[in-house]
Amino acid sequence: MFSRRLTWPCPPNRLSRLVDEKSTRARRLFDLTGSNPTRAGLSYPAEAIAAALADAGAALYEPSARGLGTARAAVAEDAARRGRPVAPDRLLLTASTSEAYALLFKLLADPGETVLVPRPSYPLFDYLAALEGLRVSTYPLAFDDRFSIDLDALESLLDARDTAPPRAVVLVNPNNPTGTALRRGERARLREICGARGVALISDEVFLDYLDQHEADAAARCGDPIVSAASGGEGPAAAPADGALTFALGGLSKSCGLPQMKLGWIVADGPGVLVSEALERLEFIADTYLSVGTPVMRAAGRLLEIGAEIRSAIGRRLAENLEALRRRLNPGSACRLLRRDGGSMGPVAAGSHRGEGGSEGPAHSRDARALLRGEVSRLGRVVGEVEQLRAAPVDELPVVHRP
Ligand SMILES: Cc1ncc(COP(=O)(O)O)c(C=O)c1O
Repeated sequence: MFSRRLTWPCPPNRLSRLVDEKSTRARRLFDLTGSNPTRAGLSYPAEAIAAALADAGAALYEPSARGLGTARAAVAEDAARRGRPVAPDRLLLTASTSEAYALLFKLLADPGETVLVPRPSYPLFDYLAALEGLRVSTYPLAFDDRFSIDLDALESLLDARDTAPPRAVVLVNPNNPTGTALRRGERARLREICGARGVALISDEVFLDYLDQHEADAAARCGDPIVSAASGGEGPAAAPADGALTFALGGLSKSCGLPQMKLGWIVADGPGVLVSEALERLEFIADTYLSVGTPVMRAAGRLLEIGAEIRSAIGRRLAENLEALRRRLNPGSACRLLRRDGGSMGPVAAGSHRGEGGSEGPAHSRDARALLRGEVSRLGRVVGEVEQLRAAPVDELPVVHRP
C-alpha cells in the first residue's frame, strides 16, 4: 500500500525509553538537545514581528516561483551588509533549508543515485535523501587540531570505480556537530575537485552567522579566512567560469532565530551557464509547490532587521554556554573541548590519552574511539555532567587521522 521511502526502523532505544519514563514522572526535564530558540527563555520582540507580518499587501496573491523580487532583494541586501554579497537573481526562496535540500536533490539526482555527506554531520541527511529516493554515502572528516574535510579521501571516493558516482557533495559550514568552518583554501580545492568531476556542491550555511570571532580573525590573519562556499565575499561578479556548480543554503530559522516564519534561500554560484540552467530548473520545481507564503515574503526585510537582534541574543547565549562548558572541562577533567570555528555545538573529546611526544588529545590519541560525537552547548543551559561522557559507549570512529 505505501511507498518504501517511509520504512525506517525507529524502535525505541534506551534513551527514548528513559525520556518517556521520566516525562511521565518528573515535573520538569532539562532537554540538553533542545534547539528551539523560541523556547529557550530568550525575549522575542513579539509585537514587532506581528507588525512586520501585518502588511496589507499580503492579501494579494502574486505567485512567484523564485520568490517575490522584494523579498529576494531584502535577503541580498542583508547578505551584503554582512560581507557576503549576492545578486538577487542568483537567489531562490524556499520555505526552509530542509525544503531547499528537497528541491536540490530533485534537481541533481534521480531515484537510486547517491549524495555524499560528511561524517559526522547533520543527522537529517538520511531522511532528506530517502524522501527523494536517494542514497546517502559518507566522506570522512580529518582531525588535526581541528576537524576539516578530508579532501584526499573525498577525491578518492568521487573516483571510486566500484560505486556509481555521487551526484552532489554536501557540506555543513560550520559543520554540525564539529563546529568547523570552510577556509578559502579548502573551498578552492573543493570546487576544483567537484568541478572537474561534474559534481555539484551543496553548502548548508545556516550557522555561518554564528562564528567565533576569535577563530574568524585568526583565520583571516593567516590569509585563509572562513568563507561561504558560494561567492566567497568577492561578489557574484567574481564567480569563476570553471569550478563546481555550488549552492549555499541559508534561512531565517537559524540566522534570525525565527524557525516558525518558514523562509529559507538557496544562493546559486559557479559557472554562469550551469547556474542559469540550474536556476531555471529549480524555478520549475518550486513552481510545482509554490510553498513560500506571501506574508513572510512581504515581511522579509523587516524580519531580517528584527532577526539581527535575536541573532545577537542567541550569540550571547552560545558564548555563555561555551564558557560554562569550558569551566566544567577544567584541567583535571577527562574531557576536553575541541577547537571550533562556530555554530551551536561544542565538540568534546573524552579520555586523556598521552600520545607520542606527551601531547594529549585526539590528534595523537592511540585510542581514537575515545572521540565522542560531542557534547552540545546548544541554546539550553549546559547542566549536564560532562564527566559522564566518559561512560558513553563509542563504538564508531568518526574521524580519520592524518598520518
Ligand atoms: C545544519 C542544519 N541545517 C538545517 C537545519 C534546518 O533548518 P530549517 O529550519 O531551515 O529547515 C538544521 C536544524 O537543526 C541544521 O542543524
